[in-house]
Amino acid sequence: MSQQSERSDQPGRKPFLYVVVCAAGVARDVDRLLVAAREAGWDVGVVATPQGLGFLDAAAVEARTGYPIRSGWRAPGDPRPFPDPDAIAVAPATFNTINKWAAGIADTLALGILCEAYGLGVPTAVLPAVNSHLAQHPAYAESLARLRSMGVRISTGAPHTPRSGDTADFPWEEVLELLAHGPDSTAR
Ligand SMILES: Cc1cc2nc3c(=O)[nH]c(=O)nc-3n(C[C@H](O)[C@H](O)[C@H](O)COP(=O)(O)O)c2cc1C
Repeated sequence: MSQQSERSDQPGRKPFLYVVVCAAGVARDVDRLLVAAREAGWDVGVVATPQGLGFLDAAAVEARTGYPIRSGWRAPGDPRPFPDPDAIAVAPATFNTINKWAAGIADTLALGILCEAYGLGVPTAVLPAVNSHLAQHPAYAESLARLRSMGVRISTGAPHTPRSGDTADFPWEEVLELLAHGPDSTAR
């Protein structure tokens, strides 16, 4: 895995990764990604969808990252809780959030950040957690194609999750590889 270097514009500061966590069963294991990202040299902040919050151990995430989980918008005038992102990893990404993001819907903070990332040019990689039944819906293939056309790096290595959303072999680190090496690093 490649290591991140410090930001050239702010010496001493590590690059900042947003990990967007959606409401999939596997989200309970997100600490695996947080550990891997920090080992790779990222500072990390977690943005959870409102539904995704229920799948996380907030205290454990905050202890690991040093930042509170973000899920709703800050109040006008409040300081920004996180630095601007140098990259975004969406893991796990649900069927719901993938389709809404591709359609340009921004009714959660997570979706607002993802929709804005395109215009800002922030590198963004996605690890879908979608079961094989949902994946057959025609909107899903159209959404993935649209996101790819926007330059979003989408893992093709994640197996379809069971309907429970649980999977022990979810390839968390693949999303970091996609950010490190570009969109074709895991193409099959
Ligand atoms: C236990 C459980 C596990 C779930 N796992 C998944 C999953 O792996 N993938 C998925 O797309 N939806 C899954 N869902 C359904 C999502 O939670 C639901 O579609 C939700 O609206 C997604 O919200 P979000 O995209 O804003 O996070 C699961 C629901 C439950 C209750």
